[in-house]
Amino acid sequence: PTPDGWRAVDTYLADLLVGHDDVLEQALRDQDAAGLPSIEVAPVNAKFLHLLARIAGARRVLEIGTLGGYSTIWLARALPEGGRVTTIEAEPANADVARRNLARAGVQHRVEIVVGRGADVLPTLTGPFDLVFIDADKESNTIYLDAAARLGRPGTVVVVDNVVRSGRVADPTARDTQVEGVRRGLEMLGSDPRFDATALQTLDAKGWDGIAVALLTDADAPA
Ligand code: DHB
Ligand code: MG
Repeated sequence: PTPDGWRAVDTYLADLLVGHDDVLEQALRDQDAAGLPSIEVAPVNAKFLHLLARIAGARRVLEIGTLGGYSTIWLARALPEGGRVTTIEAEPANADVARRNLARAGVQHRVEIVVGRGADVLPTLTGPFDLVFIDADKESNTIYLDAAARLGRPGTVVVVDNVVRSGRVADPTARDTQVEGVRRGLEMLGSDPRFDATALQTLDAKGWDGIAVALLTDADAPA
């Protein structure tokens, strides 16, 4: 498809199935006004995460990479009373934007923002989490997957954003550190017995990218 074609379809689907929400649209405007990059998930993708959390009956969600809190709001809204999202953000300025957006959305009581690098914060957390969304520095994807396996339980859903990167993941001449990190993560999902996974290419408002979805197995269970 041409970019015009897939963008028109994305708008069509988002208008029909996701709809418009002042709080979410204001969150994106505030994120933009604060100078944060517009690298949040597309609305159709955010709704997919939201539905996955509900399908999984998730009560505890771990998000790695908060940015301005757009996906965080979607995930928080998927949880039952008493549910909680723990979201990790390395940039204090991003966390400030997210805090305001979460408060405006009225979900601040079900979200804990932990400011710090994932590699430092993750060892301090206790699970089990029912769903883990990995959407931070791609170089660290294997660290995040290992943490997801440790902080999950058999049946936990793990989602990794940005696994296609306009096709660069399958282009052997693409050797930047982000794509290499994405590849190491996908290789781990394919070979580590703690995961059973697949990945889907996506064409949406964010262009050509993709998500990996994995289920944690009981590979760690005593025989
Ligand atoms: C980038 C990161 C993301 O998580 C994303 O969804 C899009 C782009 C980036 O670092 O460029
Ligand atoms: Mg992303």
